Amino acid sequence: MVDWNKVREEFPVCKKYVYLNPAGGSPVSQSAASEGKRFYDEMLEFGDTYWEIWLERAENIRADLAKFIGATREEIGFTTNTSHGMNLVAQILKERGTVLTMRDEFPSTTFPWLNQKTEIKFVEPTNNGYSIDSIKKALTPDIKILITSYVQYRTGFRQDLEELGKFCKENNLIFVVNATQALGIFPVDVENATSIF
Ligand SMILES: Cc1ncc(COP(=O)(O)O)c(C=O)c1O
Repeated sequence: MVDWNKVREEFPVCKKYVYLNPAGGSPVSQSAASEGKRFYDEMLEFGDTYWEIWLERAENIRADLAKFIGATREEIGFTTNTSHGMNLVAQILKERGTVLTMRDEFPSTTFPWLNQKTEIKFVEPTNNGYSIDSIKKALTPDIKILITSYVQYRTGFRQDLEELGKFCKENNLIFVVNATQALGIFPVDVENATSIF
């Protein structure tokens, strides 16, 4: 059972404002702010003599994140933000074949592929959602990569990652998921979904 009062305490901004849509520039939590401050405080007072400790902290976070999404530590990479991550994925998979994705994905999901002129096909929405059936119908032999958001930024539609992961496995598709709108709210298990996140 979530203690919402405790969660709210983490976000002092909630004392003044009601957030209906925190996309774009979401409010920062007390924990994130104090960790950020700790870095600059240490840097101010001790320069980079904390280097080894920072590396150790980063490795601890890597291990925690791995546990959080059912991955191994070696499978976790840090990027500046989602757009950076999606650009890296697009470059890594550049020569792997045609991409199938959803029509109204967040721009950083599709722009890197369009920019590098990868062949890209779109599934059209039905009632603001994308059934697995409609994705299956859109599959053609040239498609080797399937990309979707876990939760769509514009509509809130949530995809069934486990089912789609099975479908990708059966069809030898590389499965790329943008989990920005879902991570921390809905469970993510990369083993079950067999995906790149
Ligand atoms: C699906 C999705 N991806 C990415 C982002 C943000 O990307 P970045 O972390 O690069 O700012 C958003 C923000 O609203 C989003 O909804």
